[in-house]
Amino acid sequence: MSKLETDPLPGADRLDLPDRPRRLRRLDSLRRLVAETRLTVDSLVYPMFIEPGSDLERPIEAMPGQSLLSPDRAASLAAEAAALGVPAVILFGRPRFKDETGSDAHSSDGAVQEAIRRIKDTTPELTVITDVCLCAYTTHGHCGILDGEQIDNDRSVAAIAEVALSHAAAGADLIAPSDMMDGRVGAIRQTLDDSGHPDTAIMAYSAKYASAFYGPFREAADSTPAFGDRRSYQMDPPNAREALHEIELDILEGADIVMVKPALAYLDILAAARQRFDIPLAAYNVSGEYSMVKAAAERGWIDEQRVATEILTAISRAGASIIITYWALDFARGH
Ligand code: PBG
Repeated sequence: MSKLETDPLPGADRLDLPDRPRRLRRLDSLRRLVAETRLTVDSLVYPMFIEPGSDLERPIEAMPGQSLLSPDRAASLAAEAAALGVPAVILFGRPRFKDETGSDAHSSDGAVQEAIRRIKDTTPELTVITDVCLCAYTTHGHCGILDGEQIDNDRSVAAIAEVALSHAAAGADLIAPSDMMDGRVGAIRQTLDDSGHPDTAIMAYSAKYASAFYGPFREAADSTPAFGDRRSYQMDPPNAREALHEIELDILEGADIVMVKPALAYLDILAAARQRFDIPLAAYNVSGEYSMVKAAAERGWIDEQRVATEILTAISRAGASIIITYWALDFARGH
């Protein structure tokens, strides 16, 4: 028998481990020091829904804490967002009327165009992004122009480029097409360049999936398709390589920032896109991801603040440098 077995030294019953990772988890300060992901308000974009009219604030039932805002109210909230350090807002327009082609979407005096002007007047330092789509403006609720019950891709692209131009003319800094028609990024780039807006940037909803997580948003925007669904233009959830192809096409067409949407069920797509492409990558933490947490927190089942922070951290860890989230203001306020 060796000496060690008969007469153990103090501590010799300790496991002989190559490392003890728990050493770096002992203190909050130490955990902060070794954190690999540092989420700050600088990454966040706050979405706002713009309702025609003035002095209006209509709470959205399916998205507790969010409201439809008239342009004047939106400008006040945007100023507050900027004061809290939020670098950008993204605006979703609501129409004064709907028609087959969504023509109110490109009116120079539409609600969204008015909100852009007011925000840039009162808070010029805030980056104003606009969602460009037709679905809230068309009677049928589809994101493009129809030929019978089919989407006419190329006519849709022309209409969408016209909407983008009206936003740029009103002063938008970044145009974000969310329609998923083929070729719209290139058409928007060309239209903006040809009409004296070469510095207006494009954030493309490049890999946007046909997702059930948009449910609460569609209540807010009143944009549920009257028939069918969006599967002929938005991506099919099983596909990952196709997402990288869509992103690559948008970059080739001139996108300055690309996006994956939704975020949580698509973190693998974000991570793959981060590996492959070098331009800024955005993720949309969509309405369903927000409302699920709100609903569970209301029942006392989860802690909203902790869950929201965990979700945003995960999206950032997966590779998004820009996160569009309904929690942006709460996060900036520190709760
Ligand atoms: C418009 C659009 C949608 C969202 C952003 N832009 C809805 C849709 O495609 O049906 C969803 C945002 C969210 O759920 O928070 N095309």
